[in-house]
Amino acid sequence: MTLIYSFSHHTANACLFPVCALHHVAVTTVEGIGNTKSRLHPAQERIAKSHGSQCGFCTPGIVMSMYTLLRNKPEPKMEDIEDAFQGNLCRCTGYRPILEGYRTFAKVMMSSSLFNSSEFQPLDPTQEPIFPPELMSNKQQKQLCFKGERVMWIQPTTLKELVALKSQYPNAKLVVGNTEVGIEMRLKNMLYPVIIAPAWISEMNAVQHTETGVTFGAACTLSSVEEVLRKVVAELPPYKAEVFQAVLEQLRWFAGPQIRNVAALGGNIMTASPISDLNPVLMASGIIHLPLISPCSTEGKRTITMDEKFFTGYRKTIVKPEEILLSVEIPYSKKKYFPQASRREDDIAIVTCGMRVLFQDGTNRVEEIKLSYGGMAPTTVLALKTCKELTGRDWNEKLLQDACRLLAGEMDLSPSAPGGMVDFRRTLTLSFFFKFYLTVLQKLSKNYNGTVSAAREGRFGEGGPVCTVPDSCVLLQEVPRGQAVEDMVGRPLMHVSAAKQACGEAVYCDDIPHYENELYLTLVTSTKAHAKILSVDASEAQSVPGFVCFVSAKDVPGSNITGIANDETVFAEDVVTCVGHIIGAVLADTQEHSRRAAKVVKIKYEELKPIVTIQEAIEKQSFLKSIKRINKGDVKKGFEESDHILEGEMYLGGQEHFYLETHCTLAVPKGEDGEMELFVSTQNPMKTQEFAANALGVPSNRIVVRVKRMGGGFGGKETRNTILTTAVAVAAFKTGRPVRCMLDRDEDMLISGGRHPFLGRYKVGFMKNGKVKSLEVSYYGNGGNSVDLSYGVTLLHLDNSYNIPNVSSVGIVCKTNLPSNTAFRGFGGPQGMMIAECWMSDLARKCGLPPEEVRKLNLYHEGDLTHFNQKLEGFTLRRCWDECLSSSSYHVFWSCLVTGCTSLVHVYTDGSVLLTHGGTEMGQGLHTKMIQVASRSLGIPTSNIYISETSTNTVPNTSPTAASVSADINGMAVHNACQTILKRLEPIKQSNPKGSWEDWIKAAYENCVSLSATGIPDLGYDFEKNEGKPFCYFSYGVACSEVEIDCLTGDHKNIRTDIVMDVGTSLNPAIDIGQIEGAFVQGLGLFTMEELRYSPEGNLYTRGPGMYKIPAFGDIPTEFYVSLLRDCPNSKAVYSSKAVGEPPLFLSASVFYAIKDAIYSARKDSGLTEPFRLDSPATPERIRNACVDIFTKMCPSAEPGTFKPWSVRV
Ligand SMILES: Cc1cc2nc3c(=O)[nH]c(=O)nc-3n(C[C@H](O)[C@H](O)[C@H](O)COP(=O)(O)OP(=O)(O)OC[C@H]3O[C@@H](n4cnc5c(N)ncnc54)[C@H](O)[C@@H]3O)c2cc1C
Ligand code: FES
Repeated sequence: MTLIYSFSHHTANACLFPVCALHHVAVTTVEGIGNTKSRLHPAQERIAKSHGSQCGFCTPGIVMSMYTLLRNKPEPKMEDIEDAFQGNLCRCTGYRPILEGYRTFAKVMMSSSLFNSSEFQPLDPTQEPIFPPELMSNKQQKQLCFKGERVMWIQPTTLKELVALKSQYPNAKLVVGNTEVGIEMRLKNMLYPVIIAPAWISEMNAVQHTETGVTFGAACTLSSVEEVLRKVVAELPPYKAEVFQAVLEQLRWFAGPQIRNVAALGGNIMTASPISDLNPVLMASGIIHLPLISPCSTEGKRTITMDEKFFTGYRKTIVKPEEILLSVEIPYSKKKYFPQASRREDDIAIVTCGMRVLFQDGTNRVEEIKLSYGGMAPTTVLALKTCKELTGRDWNEKLLQDACRLLAGEMDLSPSAPGGMVDFRRTLTLSFFFKFYLTVLQKLSKNYNGTVSAAREGRFGEGGPVCTVPDSCVLLQEVPRGQAVEDMVGRPLMHVSAAKQACGEAVYCDDIPHYENELYLTLVTSTKAHAKILSVDASEAQSVPGFVCFVSAKDVPGSNITGIANDETVFAEDVVTCVGHIIGAVLADTQEHSRRAAKVVKIKYEELKPIVTIQEAIEKQSFLKSIKRINKGDVKKGFEESDHILEGEMYLGGQEHFYLETHCTLAVPKGEDGEMELFVSTQNPMKTQEFAANALGVPSNRIVVRVKRMGGGFGGKETRNTILTTAVAVAAFKTGRPVRCMLDRDEDMLISGGRHPFLGRYKVGFMKNGKVKSLEVSYYGNGGNSVDLSYGVTLLHLDNSYNIPNVSSVGIVCKTNLPSNTAFRGFGGPQGMMIAECWMSDLARKCGLPPEEVRKLNLYHEGDLTHFNQKLEGFTLRRCWDECLSSSSYHVFWSCLVTGCTSLVHVYTDGSVLLTHGGTEMGQGLHTKMIQVASRSLGIPTSNIYISETSTNTVPNTSPTAASVSADINGMAVHNACQTILKRLEPIKQSNPKGSWEDWIKAAYENCVSLSATGIPDLGYDFEKNEGKPFCYFSYGVACSEVEIDCLTGDHKNIRTDIVMDVGTSLNPAIDIGQIEGAFVQGLGLFTMEELRYSPEGNLYTRGPGMYKIPAFGDIPTEFYVSLLRDCPNSKAVYSSKAVGEPPLFLSASVFYAIKDAIYSARKDSGLTEPFRLDSPATPERIRNACVDIFTKMCPSAEPGTFKPWSVRV
């Protein structure tokens, strides 16, 4: 017997790891490995200097994943680095700079123009903190017991103690990794009063090699199982290791290392999830013995097998609640499975399967076959009927046909089945079998010893699409020869907060230390999409310890009406109009108490019929006011002159911002005259101040809003933070005490809305050569329950970059019972342009011409007028196009709107400068760029300039930091303020030309010259008349992408992307490239992965990363080349720069259309050549369903209207 006790380092998720389980464990956090005062750890230094930290909210987690790897393996391979990041997410960077910085640990030779790796400190493993000696004692641990208010945690150290405890508390919950129970308690409101943690019991961690297989203690973590199996597989003859290989293969797909390091094998089996990754494999693997201890029975022990009787219902097994699973015996033998997941990392599968076949000696005749599926029923299931029919049959084409027919019948799903994707799931069962069939056939033809087998096949080869190390390259503009070394404009200056972010020192809103008498607020929100509120009863909440009060509409001292269009409430009064509508809030002494109290507030509703989807809104004509139109030329004539007319529709799903820092506010009443200080994670200090003042009934001058930095915003904090901030402000006002609230991820996703889903209907007239003559297009956006910022700029982008002589367009915002949708990077533009690309791609097919040829034919030229009659000047798109067009291509243009902004520059007598401007820092590097601008304007080093925060009492009436214009407007404001100061200093400089900056400042002070100055930057468009200039200038970019799709599973792989982007003369190429890559990868999520799923009643299912998939490390293109167009100064913005935050997002549509092209060729094989509809995002489900073949035909869709779907397209 070997005990798995090792002295190694593991990453874990802090939010799931119970503090009680940390006894005798040393915990290292990011603060413990380095800091800015003494020395950064190389893992911290390299991510900062390689520009891998933007908003910085994800950075400590990524640093710790790298640190852990380095502790266990000081000379990692690049593959190890990729594996280490499987459980980390970043929403800002696009991952490339992180991998590039950390690649230096793998000693991969590379050159980067964005950082100098020779400056990096070497890694010296001898300098790492040692394991605390006091924890290294060999002394037998004692049983531990921690008692909380509602839960008792007991940690036995021997099996005997465990059995005794289980017999004392038969209903006690066993917890090992807590990755299932933690979720149940946190999100599903489950309470387990007694928890027993058997993780320290040696028998439960033991690994035994027996004659028949390997036995793992039930508490063995998945990482340790992986480690043991790897060794075993290396030693065994391949035919004996088939099952182990299959388990290993499945573990590769299983969550990230943070989960695998703590989650137990026994925990996975006992959770009995229908979509468990391991259960189908184990069930098909032959005989898996599960020894159990039964403390309450006389026998004490029994052993069961994992067969078709094991799972008895949804998350139920034949194991009795009081029984303990001791170990899991995995046999030697052979079998494989084909998992299909909607993402390759940290993902829960949609359908999993394990398959095994055994042949009669020396024949192709099936002796035994087992096909086990997850995701096709409330439990893992065996396809018993199919297996029975196939037994005794020869492995040939006929068997394949019969198997598919039988499986299609046996693995049926109701069209209303929970989880949806019914056709896709059914088709996958057949696709997986087909792959299995081919693999076995291949092995049989090689006389594979007549034994069991199955291997992954298909276009990605063994193992499906794998993450390979991305190859990347960034081409920069260089600063002009002769530019002074101290002039930092145009240089890749590191984000000014990057080092602090990498050390965990950067302060975000919720890091502000707690005030002594502070209260915590939890929102009480509607569970109905549309209903009358009959009663609100908070009486039970009062009995929760620490409860202070319930806040509702009647506590609002000012106006309860709020919102950009005054069509929202601070707290709902009579009616709720979406799930997540804020009705009230509970205040308590701690977060835990306020959460508990909020859960027991009872609300009675009278339900009203909700409008959820765009389709329903169109039917009921439920629109928000002000329908927008743009018309140009004579559309009717254009159609008459066209050779062809194409009509169609495209739907684009919405998108969740998924900033890593959720909405957060801390309100501190000042005790006098209604004064209040609000610390907020917001892009819009001005509106936050205005809305809070309005709700409190005080003038704006009593409210100060302060923003240090945000952990991402992307538009989601442009207005929607105010729904939380006003509620928190009202609560602080009512109690006179500081009040804090940071939303949990699920609350944030439920309440705050996101990018608008869109439906586009088009009719396009064109000539045989693909030249577009006329376009009629209607856009319907799902605005949700209020106007907010819904009148975005979709219609202004309907042409993308194409010159369309005749246009008739209408933009309508649907009013529905969903949370109000809002600004999101690109702001309606990506939706407008996406639909243009849809008809462009289809008309090229219709003409039988290469899409890129037709696109180029229709591109604008310099001097052309857009459909909104603005002249194109400085049109660099064709240059971008030519530079990028080495393969298939695609493009975008963009534009920016200018609004007012101010800056404030204080120069102190020591010469240091405190700079404040109207923009907020959310990771986009705005403060860094502003420091560069001020440095050049004043002619002083950047180290003399500091930005502390954005606040309404320093710079009033600011524009939101949004629409990509912040560097333009704030940069100009900063420049102008600096010029004012320089002008005042002029006489002093003249009298002492050789003096230093410090000398002049001192003299200025002595001569009473003011050293403080403000600056403001130095368009309008009429939809009705189609007149005016909505944009100051245009941004251009081109991208080419190459993808590979797996026609059988719908998976795809991003092989290569090339981007050429015009950013004018870059202020900071490292930041600009970071923005391009970050936006591109966020767009990749929008167009290929991220899918919000709602019930027909308007309830959001996808409320966290488990169900809502944003791009991870492995999703970026394997080859990713980004370059900035050279020699293209922009005369209309500060130092000839251009906006960069949003435009590149749309370039990721190149991936979507590459996928569509790939589907075209797959359909061609089935004889289908006509244009087909592909809605966005191009998920595996949509890709698979579009690749029509015999399997999809065997699983036809149910007739719409004959069933109630699990989810609807909103
Ligand atoms: C982010 C995340 C990603 C995930 N990804 C995946 C994935 O890709 N694939 C997948 O299949 N699952 C996934 N899961 C689910 C979960 O991680 C696994 O089911 C895991 O194996 C559970 O193990 P645990 O030790 O954490 O269980 P715990 O939460 O500690 O316990 C789970 C259940 O098992 C019972 N139990 C544990 N040990 C015993 C025992 N010895 N005897 C009797 N009962 C016992 C507990 O009482 C409890 O009911 C994921 C979870 C999270 C949070
Ligand atoms: S830098 Fe990674 S989430 Fe912002």
